[in-house]
Amino acid sequence: MTKKQLHESVAYLRNKGFEAPEVGIVLGTGLGQLVNEIEGAIEAHYNHIPYFPLATVEFHSGKLIYGSIEGKKVVVMQGRFHLYEGYDFLDITYPIRIMHQLGIQRLFISNAAGAINLSFKKGEIMLIEDHINLQGGSPLAFKNVAEFGDRFVDMSEPYDPEMRKKIEEIAIDKGIPLQKGVYASVVGPQLETKAEYRMLKTIGADAVGMSTVPEVIVANHLRLPIVAVSVLTDECDPDNLEPINIQEIIEIAGNTEPKMIQLFKELIKIL
Ligand code: HPA
Repeated sequence: MTKKQLHESVAYLRNKGFEAPEVGIVLGTGLGQLVNEIEGAIEAHYNHIPYFPLATVEFHSGKLIYGSIEGKKVVVMQGRFHLYEGYDFLDITYPIRIMHQLGIQRLFISNAAGAINLSFKKGEIMLIEDHINLQGGSPLAFKNVAEFGDRFVDMSEPYDPEMRKKIEEIAIDKGIPLQKGVYASVVGPQLETKAEYRMLKTIGADAVGMSTVPEVIVANHLRLPIVAVSVLTDECDPDNLEPINIQEIIEIAGNTEPKMIQLFKELIKIL
C-alpha cells in the first residue's frame, strides 16, 4: 500500500461525487437492508475503484454507496472483505483508509456473530465494548506503517465511549434490547469446535465472529471514533452444540437488521 494508491482510489470516488461524507458504515453478513435508507445514492463497484482489493466471484456485488441518511452524508460498504476469502490484513482494511481519506469523522461497523455468553440470545444485538484479536496478525504489521501513523497504536479504549453511551440511550428510548460485551475475532471460515467455544468463554469473549477487529485496529490507527455492533445469529453452547445452519444465520441477521438500522439512524441523527 502506498499513499499514491490511496490518493488514486480517493480521486476516483471524489470524481464520482463522493464529497465530504461524515459517517462511514460497514455492513456485515446478511446486513444489507440499510442501503435502502440512503437518499440520493451514488454507487461505486469495488472492482471499478483503482487499487481496491480484487473482488472474488462472491464479491462482484460489493460496492461503496454514497448518499444521505437523516440529512447527513454517509458512505456505506455493502459487503466487506474477510481473511477467510484469501485477502490479507492490508486488503481487508484498505476501504477503511479510503473512507477516512474521503473525510469521514466516525465509523459504524456491524457484523453477524455467535453468542458465547449464553445469557445472550440469537436475534439480539450486542454493542461491542472491547475485543480479543485471535486472527494471528495485525493490519499494522507492515514495513512503511509509520508513513500512515503510529506503529504502536493505543488500544486502551478502541470503541468510542461517547457513541456507545448514545447507542445505549437510543436503545432504551426505542425499547430495543441491547447486550454489551467483548467480541473475539477468528479467521474462519470453519465454525468453532466445542473446545474452542469453551476456550472463548474462558478467555472472556461474549461473542465470536470472523471480521471487524482488523477494521477497528486501523480506525484506531487513524484516530477515527468507532461504534460497532454484533447481530447475534446463533448460540454457541458447547454442551448442546447443534450443527451450524448458515441459511438460518443469514435469515436471523436479516430479521434482526431493522433494529440495528434504527440504532444507527438515530445515532446519525443526533451526531
Ligand atoms: N462463529 C464464528 N463466526 C460466526 C458465528 C460463530 O459461531 N456465528 C456467526 N458468525
